[in-house]
Amino acid sequence: MAGGMTGPGHQPELLVLDSAAQAAEAVGRRIGAELAAGRAAVLGLATGATMRPVYAWLAQAGVSLRCATTFNLDEYVGLAPGHPASFAFFMREHLFSRVEHDPCRIFLLDGLAPDLEAEAARYEAAIHAAGGIGLQLLGIGRNGHIGFNEPGAPFNSATRAVTLAPSTRAANQQDFPPGEPVPAQALTVGIGTILRSREIVLLATGPAKAAAVAAALTGPPGPHCPASALRLHPSVLVVCDRDAASGLGPRASEGAE
Ligand code: GLP
Repeated sequence: MAGGMTGPGHQPELLVLDSAAQAAEAVGRRIGAELAAGRAAVLGLATGATMRPVYAWLAQAGVSLRCATTFNLDEYVGLAPGHPASFAFFMREHLFSRVEHDPCRIFLLDGLAPDLEAEAARYEAAIHAAGGIGLQLLGIGRNGHIGFNEPGAPFNSATRAVTLAPSTRAANQQDFPPGEPVPAQALTVGIGTILRSREIVLLATGPAKAAAVAAALTGPPGPHCPASALRLHPSVLVVCDRDAASGLGPRASEGAE
């Protein structure tokens, strides 16, 4: 299948913890280990409510991003970095204002770029120049999206402009001021780019993610469920709380700690 499930399948490692706070801490510790001893880590970073406690943990643990290069996964088209619903704003508020970092090595997609294709190409080139992403952090959408790769996105897709699914726009409406619509388009790092990361950590918490997690890990793989692409990667850790793992059945208790 072109752009679909090709190559050997892999079974992501699964870690199920009792609470969302414990799951976020486990992910925070994994990122902290990547940054330990001033290693020149290249991190792929995600936004969303799921990530807030991860970044809070990193901030209270006093980690430093001084030697790290970071690439955020996505941004709304048409939003300035000062817009409170922009992912640039989210990252400043939850992470970059709270941990030491080198502003020259923080990469964000520019939602105001006049030429979206050129912006996507610039980002791909910057990831390549940094030596590729080492550790990629991911959340998951209720429809199985990763970044803003919505259902139907090819598994070999590069960074590009995409049209958001109506369900994603509805889910994210809460982040926007009343009466202001969620943008119809976004820029996102592609699934193919995500799959070239050395290692991937996906965090899912809460009952609203249970169906997406189950579809990603145990359903038929394919572009209808973007997160199922992670089964093409040899080094994926999926960290869930019990609610998000509740659709996995016996496999979840096997993976439980
Ligand atoms: C967002 C982001 C994703 C994120 C997902 C889940 O819109 N584009 O990167 O993983 O939706 O967000 P939340 O953690 O708020 O449920």
